Amino acid sequence: MIALPELQQQIDQIRRDLEQRLPTLSEHDALEAFRVEFVGRKGRITGLFKLMGQLAPEARGEAGRLINEIKDYATGCFDEHDQADRAQLRQRQLSSDRIDLSLPGKHQALGCLHPMTLVQREIESIFMKMGFDVATGPEIETEYYNFEALNIPADHPARADWDTFYIGDSHLLRPHTSPVQIRVMEQTTPPVRIICPGRCYRRDTQDATHSPVFHQIELLWIEEGLSLANLKYVLEIFTQEFFGEGYEMLFSGDFFPFTEPSVQVHIKAPGAANWMEIMGAGMVDPAVLTNVGYDAEKYTGFAFGLGIERMAMLRYGIEDIRSFLANDLRFIKQFS
Ligand code: DAH
Repeated sequence: MIALPELQQQIDQIRRDLEQRLPTLSEHDALEAFRVEFVGRKGRITGLFKLMGQLAPEARGEAGRLINEIKDYATGCFDEHDQADRAQLRQRQLSSDRIDLSLPGKHQALGCLHPMTLVQREIESIFMKMGFDVATGPEIETEYYNFEALNIPADHPARADWDTFYIGDSHLLRPHTSPVQIRVMEQTTPPVRIICPGRCYRRDTQDATHSPVFHQIELLWIEEGLSLANLKYVLEIFTQEFFGEGYEMLFSGDFFPFTEPSVQVHIKAPGAANWMEIMGAGMVDPAVLTNVGYDAEKYTGFAFGLGIERMAMLRYGIEDIRSFLANDLRFIKQFS
């Protein structure tokens, strides 16, 4: 049996020991030792509760009050320092961590593709899916590839259709991609199935629909037995893939020295009132096939030339061809 004064003495001792330790509690380790000694499940204060059974029943109420008082006091001291300790720890981690996740992120401006690149790639991929290869040729051409081999002899009035920049007497900046047809056929035995995207130049005065620098895609398919019906089929697939379902197509007569017959291709959007011209095309003239050494009795084929700017303008509703070269990022960024 123990008596209340004895318990009181123990409590006073605990209180003195505890208070002695208070100044050390800003140390993490000391705080932990304090917890174990005083407020832990096996600590000295918990130990006091076990003495209750040895007290006279009438003393137990007062004993409980005293023990709880010291317990609350110890717990209060611990909690207060424990909070400060955690805050300190977080501070230390924050200042030593290399990556401070609380900082705002750095803005990385993403590049984007030019609308012309987007449209060119899309057209290329449509024809590549149909089995066409992509070929390229030089932007500085000779008169031979640009005109003669395409059945436009010197002094032929049709040369005036291409307002050409000359470089010296016999070289020029190509005004169309058609000379690539000749270069490819010279190097290939039929069948030939190619598209040639590229930059072209003309002595045009700039306005909303003309630019001295522009792009075309040329298409050429030479094989035995091809007819205008095959051209129509290829164009129907292209129109459907590029513009969408429900477009109508119309061929009207035209003239190009390198095709016979020559046509202009127009399309009309579903529900639209007007036809839009999208390209010149035709069956390759036998004279052109002969120029590259092909047997014009055996092979036939068709070709077209498509303005990429025009396709991009139709696709995105762009009204001024000069926007493509103005390099205004506010314009360029809208499309990808
Ligand atoms: N080269 C022509 C131009 O620039 C377009 C063209 C028309 C290309 C008919 C062709 C074609 O291949 O068959 O105006």
